[in-house]
Amino acid sequence: MVTSEAPPSCQLLELPRLPDPRGSLTFLHGAREIPFAIRRAYWIYEVPGGEVRGGHAYRTLHEVFIALSGSFDVTVDDGRGSTARYVLNRSYTGLYVPPMMWRTLENFSTNAVCLILASEHYDEGDYMRDYDEFCHARARSRR
Ligand code: TYD
Repeated sequence: MVTSEAPPSCQLLELPRLPDPRGSLTFLHGAREIPFAIRRAYWIYEVPGGEVRGGHAYRTLHEVFIALSGSFDVTVDDGRGSTARYVLNRSYTGLYVPPMMWRTLENFSTNAVCLILASEHYDEGDYMRDYDEFCHARARSRR
């Protein structure tokens, strides 16, 4: 699932699964299966073929990505030379991405639904949308 050396702080989360002849069930709780209190959820869907989402980092926001349906790739980049690509295609697998991690979502399959759980309410001021600025901030914070 991981296609290169993963930034150490990103983590795949195996969520509980209750297989049942009537259909499978998965659940999660904030601050339990998810490593933060959930303050917001949003989802990405109806993505036309070849489109790319994300392409930014957050200063303080923690997120978990789940492919509720279909599949897509999440590429994470710590701005210090460590990148990884995760193929998400299971309803019971989450990808935890911490703050200050550049993320790009692509290769959405037809009918893919990406659920994102977030640690804070929406705040445009928390976004870093300039990749060079992001890398410089990462380099500065190492000192
Ligand atoms: P953005 O986070 O840039 O999308 P992506 O999923 O590609 O990273 O958000 C796109 C637009 O949606 C942005 O202009 C603000 C709006 N938006 C909200 O209003 N609330 C939200 O919770 C999110 C995630 C986005």
